[in-house]
Amino acid sequence: MPIEIKNLSFTYAPKSPFQFEAIRDINLLIQDHAFTAIIGHTGSGKSTLVQQINALLVPTQGALIVDGLLLTPYKKRSYLRYLEKITNKPHKHEALAVKKAQEIIDFIQPISPAKIKDLRRHVGIVFQFPEYQLFEETVIDDVAFGPLNFGLSKEQAQEKAKKALAEVGLDESYYQRSPFELSGGERRRVAIAGIIASEPKVLILDEPTAGLDPLGAKMMMELFVHLYHQGTNIILITHDMDIVLRYATQVVVMKEGRVIEETNPVTLFMADKEEYSLETPMLYEVARALRAHGYTIDINQMHSEDDLAKMIKVGKK
Ligand SMILES: Nc1ncnc2c1ncn2[C@@H]1O[C@H](COP(=O)(O)OP(=O)(O)O)[C@@H](O)[C@H]1O
Ligand SMILES: [Mg+2]
Repeated sequence: MPIEIKNLSFTYAPKSPFQFEAIRDINLLIQDHAFTAIIGHTGSGKSTLVQQINALLVPTQGALIVDGLLLTPYKKRSYLRYLEKITNKPHKHEALAVKKAQEIIDFIQPISPAKIKDLRRHVGIVFQFPEYQLFEETVIDDVAFGPLNFGLSKEQAQEKAKKALAEVGLDESYYQRSPFELSGGERRRVAIAGIIASEPKVLILDEPTAGLDPLGAKMMMELFVHLYHQGTNIILITHDMDIVLRYATQVVVMKEGRVIEETNPVTLFMADKEEYSLETPMLYEVARALRAHGYTIDINQMHSEDDLAKMIKVGKK
């Protein structure tokens, strides 16, 4: 399920003294079957951007097309007029602009609350520190809440919940426990199970490993990779460049509300652009140190320690 973002802007508290433009005219295509990393400094707009993908925030300008659904602040008629405006010179090319707009309108549907609910079933978001959103008395009920809310029977929802709990590594001894008596890492796993229980086509993860110990973070990432291989589209916000290098197929770099780069991890880290002030992945640091000591290392071909190890074996001068 590709996600198209067109001329998207978002302003918090518009027309108030606290007005703040957090997203500024973003155009972006998030491919289907992609593992997309969104990176950028704190405050660059990453969380604001992703919350518009499942309509938790409604854009101030522009539009998103998600699962054939057009998310935009405009009514259909004014959206047509708006498209005419952005397709340029409407007075000369009016017919073309209208045709183009019509093509877009043909495959979108007007948004209704039922459609939004459907959208949220297909696009799951795991917020930063999702464990704070647990509220049911037992783990199993908390995880079953999503599927139940999206219309499954109690039995079906419990089945989905059990499957999701198994995927996050929590066995049946957890089912009847209160989420509040679990450790922080376990609570996070319950919260993630609650999202994946609805089997979303797109899974958005906002810094899901923040605050976890390294082993917990690794297990969490392995779960997301597993879901990715099963066909889930993953959108991951992270500060961890090693995670970006290892897992992402596509990287979006944000700065001050704009997308300043859209590329793949190897190209991004090879270019090593200072103005992005990104941390260098540890693997690159090691590879560069090895090169300085006479090893032949082709950084272009390197995504994991395993790749690096193979090159060391064959490459020592
Ligand atoms: N509810 C809000 N009201 C006003 N400003 C906000 C709100 N949420 C975030 N912002 C501001 O919008 C900008 C982008 O925030 P955010 O999307 O959370 O960035 P990121 O996730 O990249 O750290 C920041 O400057 C932040 O202070
Ligand atoms: Mg954020």
